Amino acid sequence: MADVAREQREAQWLQELKSSPYRSYLYSYPHKTAYQVLEPPIPLSELWREEQAETYFLYMHIPFCAARCGFCNLFTLPDRRADVHEEYVDALERQARQWAELLRGKPFARFAIGGGTPTLLAAQQLERLFYIAQEFMGLDPEQASISVETSPDTVTRERLEVLKRNRVDRVSMGIQSFIEQEAAAIYRPQKPQLVEAALEELAAYSFPLLNLDLIYGLPGQTVDSWLYSVERALAYEPGELFIYPLYTREHTIVKPEQMRSQGQDIRLACYNAARELLLSRGYEQYSMRRFARPIAGTDKRILDYSCQEEGMVGLGCGARSYTREVHYAARYGVSRAATQSIIADYVGASSYLMADYGFVLNAAEQRRRYMLKALLHKEGVEVAGYSARFGSHLLDDLPELNRLTDSGLAALQGGRLALTDEGLAYSDAIGDWLISDAVRRRMEGCVVV
Ligand SMILES: C[S@@+](CC[C@H](N)C(=O)[O-])C[C@H]1O[C@@H](n2cnc3c(N)ncnc32)[C@H](O)[C@@H]1O
Ligand code: SF4
Repeated sequence: MADVAREQREAQWLQELKSSPYRSYLYSYPHKTAYQVLEPPIPLSELWREEQAETYFLYMHIPFCAARCGFCNLFTLPDRRADVHEEYVDALERQARQWAELLRGKPFARFAIGGGTPTLLAAQQLERLFYIAQEFMGLDPEQASISVETSPDTVTRERLEVLKRNRVDRVSMGIQSFIEQEAAAIYRPQKPQLVEAALEELAAYSFPLLNLDLIYGLPGQTVDSWLYSVERALAYEPGELFIYPLYTREHTIVKPEQMRSQGQDIRLACYNAARELLLSRGYEQYSMRRFARPIAGTDKRILDYSCQEEGMVGLGCGARSYTREVHYAARYGVSRAATQSIIADYVGASSYLMADYGFVLNAAEQRRRYMLKALLHKEGVEVAGYSARFGSHLLDDLPELNRLTDSGLAALQGGRLALTDEGLAYSDAIGDWLISDAVRRRMEGCVVV
């Protein structure tokens, strides 16, 4: 009797999980919406002094775009003014000078400039970012993997020259769709000719790794029109492709109800079709979003791009920083007024030496974070690695993972707990389900303005 009831409960749980595959994108854990005011604030000197991460990741955030796309809830402000950009880079330099002392001797294995749209900056300001990274933060461009985000409307030869000169390995371009009407429907006025011209320009510079971002589930999109965009992207032989299911929120311009094409949510069908196509073209799947092929043409080892590495040093007011125990950042907002005021505070500040907003991870949250970070990638969690690090067993600490193996969404093989192909397709639902109650309560209490 008890067994039957248990089976029914499990079947219902699985059905619920699968009935909404796109609950939330857990690109970091805990998500920034779970951050709160740290009382009392923590001096950064204290935080970083004891930190002994295996690798460090230097991230610079540029919170400006030419316009805000209708789906985007990233921390970014539509502002093209050169003087505003310059003031921001001045603040970034002040912050880097102050942080340099705290981080001396910590080698950076990766450096990324993200946004917003970093290449909205004039070439001279872009050049300054590399100078700041090398001169103050001690970045060695011969050793670190370097990645920069860009968009089709900001690609110019002058800017690409700056990236090339500074040994950028990976250029990542957001395209979303090669179809003009689909781009227009997400308030991203983007002519396919402009996208193709930008890609030609980029190709001429032969960066070792080109990544292209596409989105599926756009208003008006069909599985066929989606595959057309994937094919156009493949024509440029990118080393990496990120395919994102469209997410909308109440505060984004495009509303959730607009995502249904003729009343249907086509995202799972798009995912399956693109996955099949990409695997047939020699791409390997690394996560629900990331597909890549082996790359040649660089003497540096290019590390996978991930914003979740430990020892994350985030400069700029939209960036998060992570030590093992504390994640911190500037406040989060999406509206024009909120982003403008957070940027103004950052630019007006004279000292950047305290963490006053973030999340302190207790032992249980550190374990959960470690598991989530690995589980949502194809390679999964190495069980012995987990035990070596925490002195306990993965399935004892997080027994709910047994539900994934029992239902066929994950498997324990070769010492790793990894999602199956089916599990990968439901990564976003699984990630969301694995958020702890404490973190979820804080996320639900966060009002995004
Ligand atoms: C920082 S943006 C990329 C660079 C650049 N700003 C651009 O849009 O061209 C990172 C990527 O995340 C994806 N993305 C952002 N918000 C999303 C959403 N709500 N739903 C799906 N994908 C999203 C987009 O593919 C986007 O290119
Ligand atoms: S998707 Fe990219 S270009 Fe569009 S608003 Fe977001 S960060 Fe800016």
